[in-house]
Amino acid sequence: MVLAGDFVAGGVGELAEVLGLFAEFTGPKIMVAGNHDLWIGGPPFETWTRYEGAIADAAAEQGFHYVDGGPLIVDDVAFVGGMGWYDYSSRQSAEPVADVRVTPVGVSYKADAVASFRAVPDRGEMSWDQLQASDYAHKGMVWQVAGGTHAAVWNDGIYIDWGRSDEEMTEYFVEKIRSQIAEVAGKANRVVGVTHFVPFAEFAEDDSHEVKRAMARAYLGSARMGEALREAENLRVAIFGHRHRQEVREVDGIVAADASIARDEERPLLLTLPD
Ligand SMILES: [Fe+2]
Repeated sequence: MVLAGDFVAGGVGELAEVLGLFAEFTGPKIMVAGNHDLWIGGPPFETWTRYEGAIADAAAEQGFHYVDGGPLIVDDVAFVGGMGWYDYSSRQSAEPVADVRVTPVGVSYKADAVASFRAVPDRGEMSWDQLQASDYAHKGMVWQVAGGTHAAVWNDGIYIDWGRSDEEMTEYFVEKIRSQIAEVAGKANRVVGVTHFVPFAEFAEDDSHEVKRAMARAYLGSARMGEALREAENLRVAIFGHRHRQEVREVDGIVAADASIARDEERPLLLTLPD
């Protein structure tokens, strides 16, 4: 059983409770963290401690193998990966709403630990096509359309602080995938990649006419993770989540599965591992 992250938007105690629901499952239990699992309500952010310590401990206590901490080999199958991250490469280039004017906003914390939002200097009231990848680093956006002003924040900007840029975090996870593949090389006949963020650009949603959804696409994942997974010659399946929409497709001969369970009608996916 593989769980691809985003279990809770709360504390590690709740995470342990969720993982504990699978206590009676007797097969190998495998998981990665999701970004929601890293959310901490305010500073000081101890994102690395949460990621490497508390979640790893909760996983171990509940009998899960935490792929973020290292690969797992079950019979002839190696499970490699880790949560992954995003590099804005899947951002929507098409204007979601005609003539929308956008201003990137950044999040910072005041002394009383209350989040405040500030327009990014010299990046105000642009057309959508003037947005650059770097604007998404700020995780917030204010926009004007048809006389109304709206705003949205990508919550990782409020609740997570790696102390590194998103590009650096993407690189960190790409390297994690590579080193895990090297670690299992020659020890397994088949490889299954497990990430939380989406490793294939093919899974980006169609262009949205909602600014909020168009903005969120920047935080989907990174094709660099998929490229790293493919360096395992015997990669058969890639499992991920994050989109809150279950979907299985073949991507260049690999079974790619968004294993999200986010709607009432969605049930756990049962995947058969190809030979
Ligand atoms: Fe997520």
